[in-house]
Amino acid sequence: MRETIAHIESRTSQRPRLAVVLGSGLTGFLSSVENPQEIPYSEIPGWPESTVPGHAGKLVFGTLGATPVAILAGRSHLYEGHDAKRVTLGVRVLAALGVKTLILTNAAGAIREDFTPGELVALSDHVNLQGTSPLIGPNDDSLGPRFPDMTDVYSVRLRTLARDAAAQLGFALREGVYAAMLGPSYETPAEIRFLRAIGCDLVGMSTVPEAIAGRHAGLEILAISCVTNWAAGVKPGAIHHAEVLERGRAAAGRLGDLLKLVVGSLAGPEPIHG
Ligand code: HPA
Repeated sequence: MRETIAHIESRTSQRPRLAVVLGSGLTGFLSSVENPQEIPYSEIPGWPESTVPGHAGKLVFGTLGATPVAILAGRSHLYEGHDAKRVTLGVRVLAALGVKTLILTNAAGAIREDFTPGELVALSDHVNLQGTSPLIGPNDDSLGPRFPDMTDVYSVRLRTLARDAAAQLGFALREGVYAAMLGPSYETPAEIRFLRAIGCDLVGMSTVPEAIAGRHAGLEILAISCVTNWAAGVKPGAIHHAEVLERGRAAAGRLGDLLKLVVGSLAGPEPIHG
C-alpha cells in the first residue's frame, strides 16, 4: 500500500477529506467535478483494474462546488476474482491520504415492490452475504481495531443531510437495507424471497467490503443506491446488465445534483467530521 500511496502523492498535491465511489453506469457524475486531475487505475502501482463494462477505471481529484474531492470512478468487485482486501485498497489508500468522509454509490435491484427503477435510495444498513470481509487475516492495528463496531455503518448525520438535500431537489430519498451478494449471476427468485424474509430491501454485488474497510478506518459513510431494476421475480421478466447500466446512466444526473448539495452542506457551517 505504501508504494500506491507514494505514487498518488507524487501525482497530485490535492488532499481531499471527502471521497466518492461511483458504481455501475454512474460515472456520468464526473461531469459535475471541476478542475479534474485524473489518474487511470492502470498507472497506479498495486491498484486492481476494473474489468466490468461501464466502469471507467480512474481516480479523479477535483472540486465539487468549493470542496476538494477524490472520486473513485469505477470499482473492483469480488466477482472479478479480487479478494476483499484488493477490492478495498482504494478506500484504505484514500483514508491514509486524509479522507474522513466516504460516499459510496451503487446500482441495486429493488426487493421492495414499492421502490421504482430510477429511484435513489439511501442505505440504512446492510447484510453481508458475500462470505468474506476485508478484515480477515491478522489485524493491522495502524488501520483500525480488530473488532470494529458496525452499529451505525451508514451515518445518521449524513443520511439526514442527504434526505434534506433530496427534499430541496423535490424528491423523497427513502432508505433501505442492502443485501450484498457475491454475484456475478443475478439472484434467483427464491434467493430474493429469502432476502426479503431476512429484512433486505435492495440487492447488489458491491459496497459492503468498502463500507467495512471504511468503518474499520473510522470513516463516516453515506451510501446511495440507484435502483436500476426490480430484483429477480419481483416483476415478470429477466434482468439484463445493459438495462442496469442504462438506468444508472439515466439517474446519474440526479445523483450528481444530490451529491453536490450534500457535499456543499458538509463544507458549510458544520465542518467535515473528524
Ligand atoms: N442484483 C444484484 N446486483 C444488482 C442488481 C440485482 O438485481 N441490479 C443492479 N445490481
